[in-house]
Amino acid sequence: MHVLRPHLRSSLQLKTSDHVLLAAGFTMSAKAEKQVPTNLKGRSKSSQEWLSRQLADPYVEKAKMSNYRCRSAFKLIEIDDKFRLLSPGQCVVDCGAAPGSWSQVLVQRTNALSKDAGKPVGTVIAIDRLPIYPIEGVTIIGNTDFTTAAAREKLLSVMEGRQADAVVSDMAPNATGVRAMDHENIVHLAYSAVRFAAQTSRVGAFLLVKLWDGAITIALERDLMRFYDKVKAVKPMASRSDSAEMFFLARGFKGLQS
Ligand SMILES: C[S@@+](CC[C@H](N)C(=O)[O-])C[C@H]1O[C@@H](n2cnc3c(N)ncnc32)[C@H](O)[C@@H]1O
Repeated sequence: MHVLRPHLRSSLQLKTSDHVLLAAGFTMSAKAEKQVPTNLKGRSKSSQEWLSRQLADPYVEKAKMSNYRCRSAFKLIEIDDKFRLLSPGQCVVDCGAAPGSWSQVLVQRTNALSKDAGKPVGTVIAIDRLPIYPIEGVTIIGNTDFTTAAAREKLLSVMEGRQADAVVSDMAPNATGVRAMDHENIVHLAYSAVRFAAQTSRVGAFLLVKLWDGAITIALERDLMRFYDKVKAVKPMASRSDSAEMFFLARGFKGLQS
């Protein structure tokens, strides 16, 4: 289990006001919080804990009601509502996109389905090492490891010479449970997103990248500051409080100096 250092957690916590969550229809009912799963016979302790957490989690229910493929959608929604990053017409690359809830949000906010007549139409490209079931408005590259040269080639080919307005990465390795090792593995994925963003983004673009906090966090932040005007660590409320998960939001890509 990854636990965010307390001092960092308080400085990262997004101050999303309650009314945003209420407006989105969230209810933290006492019933939901106290719900205890029954019929757990034969399940392992970790499986019981997972089930209890799912049942107590208002975002799980909300994701079902909103037809999002998973609760992660609300992390992106919350970050975008606060920082106003996404807009119609943008070209966004979604790294580690399966099952697809971030892509669903990206389609809505970039107008990739052209639902907002008269507004520019966006492009959403989703990549994952797992298969991704089709999402209307999204170009999908499934079964592809983002860190490989082949992935880069496929992405460049579907981008057809367009520069990215944004690269978002929710990529996470399979957790081993060894905190330092998991941190290193996710940092490796984060750096591959940073490299790709640096090579494909337009000046002014943004990058949102997930991390599990640890020893190399500060080095990554420093590296991001070389390429972006503003770098901010954020932890949305939809990110579980007992997890070391955090995101770096890097805005204002400076371009690659030759
Ligand atoms: C937390 S999930 C992403 C959830 C997604 N943002 C959503 O909203 O549906 C993390 C994803 O990262 C993917 N991933 C991990 N390593 C990867 C890699 N090397 N290349 C591509 N995808 C990777 C995993 O397969 C997994 O689907």
